Amino acid sequence: MENNRASFGSNFGFIMAAVGSAVGLGNIWGFPYKMGMSGGFAFLLVYLVLAVFVGLAVMVGELAIGRKTGMSPVAAYRKLSKKFTWMGYMAVLVPFLVLCFYFVLGGMVTRYALGYLTAIFGWNTWNVSDIADFFGSFILNGGSMILWTAIFIAINAFVGMPALFVMLLIVIIYVACQPGAGGGYKFMFGWNIKPLQEDFLKVLKTAAGQMFFSLSLGMGAMITYGSYLKKQESVQKNAVIVVICDTLVAIMAGMIVMPACYAFLGGETSSGPGLLFLSMQIVFSKMGYVGNIMGFLFYALVFIAAISSSMSLLEVITSFKVDQNVEQGKAPGRKKYAIIVAILVFVFCLPTALDGLGSGTNGGATIGNPADVLGMHWAEAGDITEFAEGTTYYVKGDDGIYTKLAADEAFVEGETYYLDTSKTWNADWLDFYDMLSEGIMMPLGALVMAFGIGWIWKIDMIVEECEQSGHKFWGKGFFNLCYKIITPIGMAFVLYAQITGFFG
Ligand code: PHE
Repeated sequence: MENNRASFGSNFGFIMAAVGSAVGLGNIWGFPYKMGMSGGFAFLLVYLVLAVFVGLAVMVGELAIGRKTGMSPVAAYRKLSKKFTWMGYMAVLVPFLVLCFYFVLGGMVTRYALGYLTAIFGWNTWNVSDIADFFGSFILNGGSMILWTAIFIAINAFVGMPALFVMLLIVIIYVACQPGAGGGYKFMFGWNIKPLQEDFLKVLKTAAGQMFFSLSLGMGAMITYGSYLKKQESVQKNAVIVVICDTLVAIMAGMIVMPACYAFLGGETSSGPGLLFLSMQIVFSKMGYVGNIMGFLFYALVFIAAISSSMSLLEVITSFKVDQNVEQGKAPGRKKYAIIVAILVFVFCLPTALDGLGSGTNGGATIGNPADVLGMHWAEAGDITEFAEGTTYYVKGDDGIYTKLAADEAFVEGETYYLDTSKTWNADWLDFYDMLSEGIMMPLGALVMAFGIGWIWKIDMIVEECEQSGHKFWGKGFFNLCYKIITPIGMAFVLYAQITGFFG
């Protein structure tokens, strides 16, 4: 079949779209908080190694497969080999799972950006006496979480970057001038591989998931973008540009958040997914009035980044349906399906918006954690005759609520004791969706694709596609090594670590 798709008007247009997809909450929300929790420099090191040895090759592979087939993922993989059609379906499922929390986070960012905008004009909408309390009350307010999610989705479904770099730079420079900021740079860039010696697999799996998520890889996005890339453009050059720009923005976001944590929060970097909201808000409040302007700049840029990424996530799902319609001789119905998909995702976002980011019903959230809802949070301790050292036991009250035993509680014969079986992934819905998508399916998608290119279809398929219009494919040996060995083996480790963590 000839490639009769519309394509980007210019290569610049393509780069803006691809970088727009890649740069998003992954960079500004995910990267700093994961780095903060996983050892700073050690995480950065593993991340950069993965981006060069896995990310770049997978990026080239996806763009080339997309352009070669001229189709979106399901049709693209089916065309390569019927046996790989499931990869295409997974590539459509993953953005769905990602959107189930991406929209909620996007909504939260929208709230923060507008809150700071009004504050510049003297209208305080936080309504708390201590700014540190805002995040906690916001995430427990199911109504407003849903409202802001809906606002963000609505903007996505109806709307069709250099400023970003400038805004990031302003905030970077401001933060750099604060006393104590140096600790943040040391945390990020000072040689320290202790975290790798302590738990290599944990850093590896965190960095790998982050790398795929941030580069929009291991799912349909870049295949779809590749299908719009003109034949006379260089696949490899574009892949390098996207990987470098995306990594730069992530590091820039780190250079805002990490030094800020050191300057204002005594070096506390490991507060997790709330870091972008809770910690940064405290940071802005410590700046006084100018913090309103900084806060607005900061959240506005995160908002822009989030919108362009979530539109590309939606696009993968929508274009799957549109391609299917066209194949069956029906009208494409792009607008209609964009809205239907957006509404469908909204429904699946509800648990993410309503569980208070894992606060649980005991913590005041409207609905429970996945663990509670799926009924796997608590396990009976079994026939025990005494408390084991280092284990925390619970008893179940008549009201169905589990209470933790105090350390000095005496053992009672015949009493039923319970253990808390929560893992990160079942502690909140965000992590549940995140684990399935960036934790498991993205590495799996990359593993299978790299294996297919390395061993089944052979690298020559990629080389041939990249060498159209007289471009020379460089680094064939390097890419071959990445496809054949590094990506499959590296990702097998990631999956092993992820799956044992998930079920173990
Ligand atoms: N890369 C985007 C981010 O960093 C998220 C994304 C993932 C977008 C996959 C498209 C596809 O936020």
